[in-house]
Amino acid sequence: ASALVVSSQASAASAIDDILSSGELKVCFEAGYIPFEMKTKDGRYIGFDIDIGKHMARSMDVKYVPINTAWDGIIPALQTKKCDIIMGGMTITASRNLSVMFSNSYISIGQTVVIKPELKGIIKSYKDLNKSEYTITSQIGTTGAEAARKYLPKATLDLFETSADGVLQVANGKADAFVYDLPFNALYASQHPDTVEHLSTSFTYEPLGWAIRQDDPNFLNFLNNYLSQIKNDGTYERIYSKWFES
Ligand code: ARG
Repeated sequence: ASALVVSSQASAASAIDDILSSGELKVCFEAGYIPFEMKTKDGRYIGFDIDIGKHMARSMDVKYVPINTAWDGIIPALQTKKCDIIMGGMTITASRNLSVMFSNSYISIGQTVVIKPELKGIIKSYKDLNKSEYTITSQIGTTGAEAARKYLPKATLDLFETSADGVLQVANGKADAFVYDLPFNALYASQHPDTVEHLSTSFTYEPLGWAIRQDDPNFLNFLNNYLSQIKNDGTYERIYSKWFES
């Protein structure tokens, strides 16, 4: 009996075991992060991360199961096994990396700002927003919120549950600027040219990666080799060019 106890302790359970036995790859993300994950009017999930996730599930011969989760609860959702992986444009940060494992980065982005049109010409760089007269918005629990705190400490910071609500304050003229990931801001500004202006020079370096629970070297090894495969066999390029302008 004691030998049995020892051997079960020696092999930690990998998320791979759950994925294969259930036949499902459960993926957490927060829809609304264009163009990585969006919800269509008829309730489907589409986007860059979704397509990669579906391809990954196919490569494991299991079903892709989308789990749309509030951003500020997404790491707890992973920890409590509501999903096997976060594929949601998550920035690999030192502080998150203390509680989850990250795959190698699949894309690098940075923070930018969108400003209200009245500030065009007045605000030439994000730095010009560091004044007590300005109100900045971002999304709760994001690196955008962190960047606003760090680089624009004199401005008032208003955080919202979703990026859509945060940027809407600027489009409405209720706030001066929205700090968020470049791809979202670029796309939002191109879709709303009359209500916001994008300052497209990014001011942080943010590699995005897939997050999994700690103590799972098997799954991590799978993910990094899977990533290297799709980056070199044309799959990544095909999916990327579908969602991003070249
Ligand atoms: N990259 C940023 C972060 O990690 C924002 C990600 C937001 N992603 C989303 N699916 N809403 O904090």
